[in-house]
Amino acid sequence: MVSSQHASHDLAPLVWSDSMLLGHVGIDEEHRVLADLIGRMQSARDEDMALALDELVAHATKHFSVENALMRDTAFPARDCHIKEHEAVLSTLNGVTRRLAVGHVEIARCLADELAAWFPAHIQHLDSALSHWLCKLRYGAKPLVLRMGRTSTAETASQFNFMRRPT
Ligand SMILES: [Fe+2]
Ligand SMILES: [Fe+2]
Repeated sequence: MVSSQHASHDLAPLVWSDSMLLGHVGIDEEHRVLADLIGRMQSARDEDMALALDELVAHATKHFSVENALMRDTAFPARDCHIKEHEAVLSTLNGVTRRLAVGHVEIARCLADELAAWFPAHIQHLDSALSHWLCKLRYGAKPLVLRMGRTSTAETASQFNFMRRPT
């Protein structure tokens, strides 16, 4: 069994902050849960990693399907690349689940850190555009978001394909 409890992983666990707020209540609440699950996976003990990953996969699957439906139902113009990124993330999560099942804890720990770096960027670059679109459709204007302060963001280079964007 491959085991490396916290070895060479020093990215701080992701903590929700209002810098991630978009102004869409449903999406913001789901993001808050997802950020918490990513942070928990980053700090999970080896023996708890499978449960942490399972919970993350379940929530991410549900959340992505909600966003995908919102994009399709409202004919969001930039939906294709956004939906493809969701699919790539789920594919990676499922692949790591299979690796973890045969003892590769290190890859799961690595994935957790990569997700912590990817998630705030995904919110900022893709989900924010969707939130603006939905708000404009409903209210005719961009959402107004009041942020009280920032507590956590993470930016690192990525090794998983879902984080690579065409330039
Ligand atoms: Fe999202
Ligand atoms: Fe998204």
